[in-house]
Amino acid sequence: MRPAAFARCATCHQTAPERNGVGPSLAGVYGAPAAHEPTYAYSGAMRSSGLVWDEATLDAYLTDPRSVVPGTKMVFPGVRDPVERAALIEYLKTL
Ligand code: HEC
Repeated sequence: MRPAAFARCATCHQTAPERNGVGPSLAGVYGAPAAHEPTYAYSGAMRSSGLVWDEATLDAYLTDPRSVVPGTKMVFPGVRDPVERAALIEYLKTL
């Protein structure tokens, strides 16, 4: 079930595999290493971040993308509400 907060993400992200927009498809992102979608042109910062997307790394990244991956091209201020972030992460697990 898509949480209401995903509307903010959907302006840049699709959920079908290999469907990239401004941002990469989020299909299969949970549990994957950063820059997981091979058909998307990530920033060097994301490619070299060394992150693996689990609950802790997603929670930190979605709170403040630019402090977790300095130089990321995800121009998004972050989701302040922890309840919203938790719902988003649960949703990402299903993609
Ligand atoms: C303004 C457009 C935009 C918005 C809004 C946005 N993103 Fe992104 N997102 C991006 C871009 C661009 C990247 C690639 C970043 C890079 O390469 O540095 C990205 C990367 C990501 C990644 C890493 C993907 C990977 O393969 O490693 C995740 C996870 C992510 N976004 C989740 C979200 C979520 C969840 C939201 C909503 C809360 C969101 N994004 C909102 C543009 C956006």
